[in-house]
Amino acid sequence: MAFFLAGGVSAQNKGEAVSNAKINSIVSKMTLEEKIEMLHGNALFSSAGVPRLGIPELTCDDGPLGVREEIKRFDWASANWTTDSATFLPNGSAIAATWNPVMANKYGIVIGEEANARKKDIMLAPAFNICRMPLCGRTYEYYSEDPYLNSQLAIQAVKGIQSQHVAACIKHFAANNQELNRNSVNTIVDERALREIYFPAFKAAVQQGNAYTVMSAYNKLNGYWCSENDFLLNKVLKDEWGFKGVVMSDWAGTHHTVAAANNGLDIEMGSSGAYDRWYFAKPLLAAVKAGQVSVKTIDDKVSRILWLIYHTSMSSNHPKGLIATPEHAKTAYNIAAESIVLIKNDKHLLPLKASAVKRIAVIGDNAVRTFALGGYGAGVKAKYEVTALEGIKSRFGKIASISFAQGYKANYLANNSDEQNRGYDQRDQKLIDEAVALAKTSEVAILCIGSNREYESEAHDRKSLELPFGEQALVNAVTAVNPNTIIVIMAGAPYDLNEIKKSNHAIVWSWFNGSEAGNALADVLTGAVNPSGRLPFTFPVSLKDSPAAALNTYPGEGATAEYKEGILVGYRWYDTKKIQPEFPFGYGLSYTDFSISHFSADKLNYGRNETIRAKFTIKNTGSRYGAEVVQLYVSDPVSSVLRPEKELKAFEKVFLQPGETKTVELDVKVGDLAFYDESKKSWKIEAGEFVLQLGNSSRNILKTVKIAVK
Ligand code: BGC
Repeated sequence: MAFFLAGGVSAQNKGEAVSNAKINSIVSKMTLEEKIEMLHGNALFSSAGVPRLGIPELTCDDGPLGVREEIKRFDWASANWTTDSATFLPNGSAIAATWNPVMANKYGIVIGEEANARKKDIMLAPAFNICRMPLCGRTYEYYSEDPYLNSQLAIQAVKGIQSQHVAACIKHFAANNQELNRNSVNTIVDERALREIYFPAFKAAVQQGNAYTVMSAYNKLNGYWCSENDFLLNKVLKDEWGFKGVVMSDWAGTHHTVAAANNGLDIEMGSSGAYDRWYFAKPLLAAVKAGQVSVKTIDDKVSRILWLIYHTSMSSNHPKGLIATPEHAKTAYNIAAESIVLIKNDKHLLPLKASAVKRIAVIGDNAVRTFALGGYGAGVKAKYEVTALEGIKSRFGKIASISFAQGYKANYLANNSDEQNRGYDQRDQKLIDEAVALAKTSEVAILCIGSNREYESEAHDRKSLELPFGEQALVNAVTAVNPNTIIVIMAGAPYDLNEIKKSNHAIVWSWFNGSEAGNALADVLTGAVNPSGRLPFTFPVSLKDSPAAALNTYPGEGATAEYKEGILVGYRWYDTKKIQPEFPFGYGLSYTDFSISHFSADKLNYGRNETIRAKFTIKNTGSRYGAEVVQLYVSDPVSSVLRPEKELKAFEKVFLQPGETKTVELDVKVGDLAFYDESKKSWKIEAGEFVLQLGNSSRNILKTVKIAVK
């Protein structure tokens, strides 16, 4: 697939943009003081260059949802620019729900182009920590619960960004899977789980995506802060994976001078107090003079930064960049359109038949809410954002009368205390009564509920999976008076949909879906777009079914969160433990039907260095154009160690016209069937039988084929 995606011919792939000799010669001209200046922030989002030698400052910006608005150099207040209105791109779990690496690549190109328009060398994106705990406040920013899906998306997002000579900063390395206590928690994760679950997407983004920068996480990993973790930064990232770029700390995530300098951190960012007092400022100079940190170590950091600068701001043919163009809006639309998941449609209420709809009730605060900003953490000053109500009006306004009722009050602010937020889960009976009155007199009610950017936020975890703001009471009341109620949920993480699943016939999942969210949603409702999103994480029936909750390892005891579930994260847990999910990983419906047949592998027996070429035929048996996401899971039924019931090893989103048939090949390297053998500290494949399982969710396997590895 990579051949038609941007980034395949980046400067790094064609050969280095700068020679070691050139870098060495610059370093040799620098004083120790000049070198140290480059190793820490000199403002909120930059670090110093060496003007005397023509080396520019290094600039960065958030983040995953698009290029953040310009803030003042030394504080977080808006710089009040008029030229920084940007494209708001769908959030990470929306990108993951497309199950389409091409979308991740296009996302990256937009981010890169807009970063250039704003003269940013590094974009602090993509973020793809594994969704271990569904309550994690940043689930919406991250991708999925699966390392393979994350890897495929991360590689392409990085390539897209870097195709514009802007560095991607992949984050947060590693095991930053909860926001609660993120600045203090010591995550204890066994090496097998690190290698099989938490590392693969970082490794892939470095080795296959060529990511130029990595952000260390806030938490400790196995006893050491991630920003000074020798195992993580020196041994694994730099030595084993061959990472040539720069490790930067998360903002205020540096804790010591000598340990961080010697254990792999290159640039300290976001600390507080006078800049020259930061750990990597005067204290680092003193540590070098005292012999605690070698000049060689400093030179290595400086060389990495110069390498980065030569691949970004000082690269030849550096693009000028573009911001908030119609093409960028089209990309935002395409990602949003591919990310929407049709969860239930058992009475075929959807797509809405225009001829049968004269009065539409649009209900719910989320129908009029925007999601570009809100809560704690990075947002986007969106050039525009189409709300659900606006989208529905633009698509149905000419044929139907559309009325709106708020339905609930979203009484929750991320920066409020629990006390101030008290009552956020309560219904507002007056708003419910208004909504019911409207729903009674309409043929269809479109109920837009879910969460928002205040409720799902960085630095907070949710307290439960329940829908907030008394939304369930609203759903019940509206559904009772109007059987044609379509539930649209806008959120970035799993919620408890048990009751809705039972009592409602049409459920559509949208996300914090960017500038074009409302148009994409409305096009799914009309059928102009056939939904093809698939869930990037399991929705458990109950929180206690999820691994971290079941094993009582969240948020951890005292300062420690031990990941006792090991490799059994996400569907690996539910499937292995035979726990029925509410909705499984990979699940989603379509307005058309597909049949899958002729599943085969090219051989029966494979050597360890071979590639399994699996093939299947898929036909669109319905009457609409659409896409199926075909997922190939592999299991190892007999093993000397516990293996998950199944693991995703390949997938393909296949687009088909009505009646069209395609034969698709999915390749899996036999090497990728290995597990990490902790005792030998290496990957191991045991000879014997493996089962290839082809399906359209982790719980709907349609065909299997057995193969053997010699
Ligand atoms: C977040 C990072 C972000 C940084 C700078 C931190 O709080 O964890 O993801 O890039 O702030 O805004």
